[in-house]
Amino acid sequence: MKTTRREIIQMLGVAAGTVVITPLFSRGVSVAKEPIKPVDFPWPYSKLDPDVSADISYKGYEVGRCMYGTFLGIIGRLAEEKGAPYNTFPFLMMKYGKGGVADWATLCGALNGAAAAIYLVSNKPEPIVDELFGWFQQEKLPIYQPKDSKLEIVPSVARSTLCHVSVSRWCKVSKFKAFSKEREERCARLTADVTKKTAELLNQQLASTFKPVYPIPDHVKQCRACHDKGGTLENTRGKMDCSPCHFNLGTAHKKI
Ligand code: HEC
Ligand code: HEC
Repeated sequence: MKTTRREIIQMLGVAAGTVVITPLFSRGVSVAKEPIKPVDFPWPYSKLDPDVSADISYKGYEVGRCMYGTFLGIIGRLAEEKGAPYNTFPFLMMKYGKGGVADWATLCGALNGAAAAIYLVSNKPEPIVDELFGWFQQEKLPIYQPKDSKLEIVPSVARSTLCHVSVSRWCKVSKFKAFSKEREERCARLTADVTKKTAELLNQQLASTFKPVYPIPDHVKQCRACHDKGGTLENTRGKMDCSPCHFNLGTAHKKI
């Protein structure tokens, strides 16, 4: 249901016809009675050492888990190097993304934290997120090896950006339990991997050398041609790989 301008103004507790709110609202700045102070955005990015950021994320995982870890590796590192405005961010709020948002196992927290960081510092964030998520779905992770550990962690391919699929596919490959120390170590290392990749991509974008190499795979493009925007059915949306969930397609496709 569409909310009319009149209803919005009423929700705001302002008499209809009072004009102050309308221009602010239409600019998407504020729906509160008091307009929020405009903030310069996005914050400027400067080149990071991907390995330094990865180490920060690995250690950050212990404090606030996956989403906090990746966000700290990028924005926390910028705060260390540059101070304000990066150091004004309430970093600990990023704990919300742990275990795919408050342990719901939806979007992988490492990816969620990276995407938040990317949107905070990039003028053109979506291609970077696309590349990061595409890479995450297809690569064997984790790769990161902490300097003071000889422990081997078996890598696996998530085929998904979801915490649930990523963790359970790893459990299947490694034979460890979802609440084991090994799984935690796996996610801490994967958090470092995601940060390293994110820093590399942001560095490339800054240097105008960014070239995506993880496009949406052809088998997913095919599905989307009928089921996504502009397709004959247009009854779905998204860039996730469909195949881990829809491996047993019904008779509707036999004729295709
Ligand atoms: C994480 C698992 C997952 C992924 C990934 C996924 N889907 Fe689904 N999809 C579902 C579930 C669960 C439903 C709901 C099925 C139901 O209730 O019958 C669904 C429903 C659908 C439906 C409607 C099914 C019907 O019976 O009408 C279509 C079409 C569909 N998905 C296409 C896609 C396409 C295309 C992709 C890839 C771009 C995709 N899905 C990715 C899990 C997934
Ligand atoms: C040429 C168009 C076309 C392509 C390509 C296509 N579909 Fe479909 N899909 C259909 C049609 C038509 C239906 C039947 C819709 C109905 O009966 O309401 C359907 C139904 C579905 C359904 C629900 C019923 C079922 O068969 O399970 C799912 C899920 C689905 N498609 C997923 C996918 C995925 C995943 C891909 C890629 C591997 C894909 N589709 C590729 C046209 C397409």
